[in-house]
Amino acid sequence: MQELNVPDDLKIFIEGSPVALALALPDGDHPLALVNPRFSELTGYSHAELVGRNCRLLQRDADDRDARAKLRAFLEDDAAPSVRTPILNFKKDGTPFVNLLYMSRLRSLSGPTRFIFASQYDVSRAQPERLQDYDQALGQTLTRLTPIAAESGIIVEGTLTTIAHSATTIAQAKLTLADLDEGSML
Ligand SMILES: Cc1cc2nc3c(=O)[nH]c(=O)nc-3n(C[C@H](O)[C@H](O)[C@H](O)COP(=O)(O)O)c2cc1C
Repeated sequence: MQELNVPDDLKIFIEGSPVALALALPDGDHPLALVNPRFSELTGYSHAELVGRNCRLLQRDADDRDARAKLRAFLEDDAAPSVRTPILNFKKDGTPFVNLLYMSRLRSLSGPTRFIFASQYDVSRAQPERLQDYDQALGQTLTRLTPIAAESGIIVEGTLTTIAHSATTIAQAKLTLADLDEGSML
């Protein structure tokens, strides 16, 4: 089981986090190694349904090309510390949402990337102050994760660029869903 590769302390911390989190392996097609309960609440998919699979299944048939290109550019460049983009996703029950996706790397002290770290947030149903709360919670998660990861010889890379214009970001996410209703994104 790939999940067994996640050090225990790291796994316990991620599972208890108040924000949706996922870890994937850095090689191959980036199979998921772990998703936490908040991720399952957000998407409707359990850990067992997703482990070993690529998280793009949340995109279904939507072709959010710019967002995917940004994510691919990050994954293909081992020197890129982090990426953040909204991307159109679907919950297990088919409900669309705009996922504000953050990704960074967890790197071994010896150099190679151990895991790709990600956090997901439904920006299309948020209020601006909720997005700010989420940003704060994700920032705290990254800060608290750092010493726990260090115990396992892992460095938490990337800095979280928080969303400066929450209201604009949320309005754009709602427009994306409105476009979807008109059938122009599928
Ligand atoms: C740890 C991790 C979590 C990810 N989470 C999501 C996600 O929640 N939603 C999504 O649409 N893509 C997510 N992705 C990105 C996709 O897996 C994929 O990398 C992206 O679609 C670009 O590659 P592609 O064009 O080959 O699909 C995640 C990737 C990783 C490594």
